[in-house]
Amino acid sequence: MRRIISISSGKGGVGKTTFAINFALSLSRVAPTILIDLDTGTSSVRNTIDTPVAKDLYHFFRKGARLDECLTTLDTSLDPSGAFSNFAFVAGPRHVIDEITNMREEARWRLMQAINDLDARYIVLDLKAGLDANVIDYLPLSNSGVLVFTPHHPAATLAAGDIVKSLLFRKLRFIFAEGSPFFGPGGDRQHQAMINALLNQVEDVYDERLKNLDEFMSDLYGALGDNPYLRAISDVLNSFGVYFVLNMFDGIEESYQTTIRPFVEYLRTYVSSKLHLTNLGWVVHDQQIHEANCQRHPILLQSPSRKEQSIDAIRREIASLESAILGLEDPRLADSAPPADLRDELTRIDPSCTVERQLEILQHMYHSHGQQRVRENFAYITHRALHVMQHLPPDSFGHPRLFSPLEIFDQLMPERAVEEDMEEEAGQEAGLL
Ligand SMILES: Nc1ncnc2c1ncn2[C@@H]1O[C@H](COP(=O)(O)OP(=O)(O)OP(=O)(O)O)[C@@H](O)[C@H]1O
Ligand SMILES: [Mg+2]
Repeated sequence: MRRIISISSGKGGVGKTTFAINFALSLSRVAPTILIDLDTGTSSVRNTIDTPVAKDLYHFFRKGARLDECLTTLDTSLDPSGAFSNFAFVAGPRHVIDEITNMREEARWRLMQAINDLDARYIVLDLKAGLDANVIDYLPLSNSGVLVFTPHHPAATLAAGDIVKSLLFRKLRFIFAEGSPFFGPGGDRQHQAMINALLNQVEDVYDERLKNLDEFMSDLYGALGDNPYLRAISDVLNSFGVYFVLNMFDGIEESYQTTIRPFVEYLRTYVSSKLHLTNLGWVVHDQQIHEANCQRHPILLQSPSRKEQSIDAIRREIASLESAILGLEDPRLADSAPPADLRDELTRIDPSCTVERQLEILQHMYHSHGQQRVRENFAYITHRALHVMQHLPPDSFGHPRLFSPLEIFDQLMPERAVEEDMEEEAGQEAGLL
C-alpha cells in the first residue's frame, strides 16, 4: 500500500529538507520512493541535490505537464552504482511564482490528486514551515506525519505542538460541522451550537475557561453524561498518533530539556494527555551533513569513510538483533481497546504523553543507539517508521492518500455519503419516471 509521509516543523531552519531528502533516500532502498518539494517558495530540494531538473512544478502548473513527467532521478555522478535508482523527486519551481507559492485551493487540490496518482510505494512531502493551508491540507487526518524538532530552535518545538492541535481541531470541526450525522435532520441544533462554542473556548489559548480537550470532555460528560459526541472526540484522540524526530541531536539532557519536555508539556496543557507520542529517533549534529548539503551531494549519497565502514559492518549486525527490541514497545500496545466505561476513559492518560516516559524512551534509545553516526541514525529512523507502518493500520502513520476538504467530510461522515448516494439514485429514478 502506498504511504504518503509529510515532514513538517512549526518553524523553519530545523532541518526538514535535510531530513526529508535523506529519509526518502533511505526509504528508496526498500521500495520506490518519490520526494516532493512542497516548500515551493524556496525550492530547497533542488538546491541540495546536484542533478539537472528537466521539469518541475512550474511545468505541472503552467505547462500542463503530468506530475509523473516532472520526476527527476539522480544523476549518475551522484549515484554511480545505481543503489538509489528507486528514488525520484519533484522539484519546486526555479523561482518564486506567486500562484504556486500561495497556492489556491483549486490548484492545491489538483496537485493533491496528482500526488495520489503517482506510482510509488512511499511519497515523502517536504512541507514549508508554518501553519497555513499549504501545510495543513497536506498533513494526515489521524496523525502528525513526521514533526522535526531541534534543540537549537526551541520555539519551533512549541509551534510543532500547534500543528498537532490544529490537526485535531480540523478533524473535530469536520465531525461537528453543519450537516454531520451527529446533528443530522433530526439532530439537536442546541447541542451542535454548544459543542462548537466549547471547541472555540478550548482552541483559543487566551480563553481560560476550558484549557484543553480533556477538560472539555469532562465538562461535556458532566452536562450530558455518556453521549455520542463525547465518544467521537474520545475516538479521535485515542487514534491520533504524534511522531517526531530530533535533528541536530546533541545529547539526552539538552534534547530533553529544550525539545521533548516542552513539547509534551504543551500537548498535555493545551491539547490532551491522551495522545500517543512516538519518538522515531534522532539525527546527530554533524558538520558533514551541512557540508554535504552545501556541496549539493546529500550525505547518504556519499560513500562512508573507512572508519565508518568498519563501524557499519559491526553495527549492522547489532542493529538487526536490536531491531527486534528497538527500545520500543510494540506499537499495537498503544492501540489497546479503550476501557468500556467512558468515565474511566476520560481520566485515562496515555503513558507515552508523560515527560517521564519520554525521557525513559530517550534514555533507552540512547543507551542502545547513542554511539551511532549519521548513516545509522537514518537507518534507525527508517527502520522504526517501517516498523510502525507494518504493524499499525494505514491511518496511524502517514496517509494512504490526500483528501480534499469535501472528501474528508465524506470520509468522516459515511452516513452522509450514503444519504447523498440515495438522494442521487432517487433523483435519477425520478428523472427516469
Ligand atoms: N543534523 C545536522 N547537522 C548539521 N547541520 C544540519 C543538520 N541538519 C540540517 N543542518 C543544516 O541546517 C540548515 C537548515 O537545514 P534545512 O534547510 O534542512 O532546514 P529546513 O527546516 O528545511 O529549513 P526551511 O524551513 O528554511 O526549509 C542547513 O544549513 C543544513 O545544512
Ligand atoms: Mg526546507
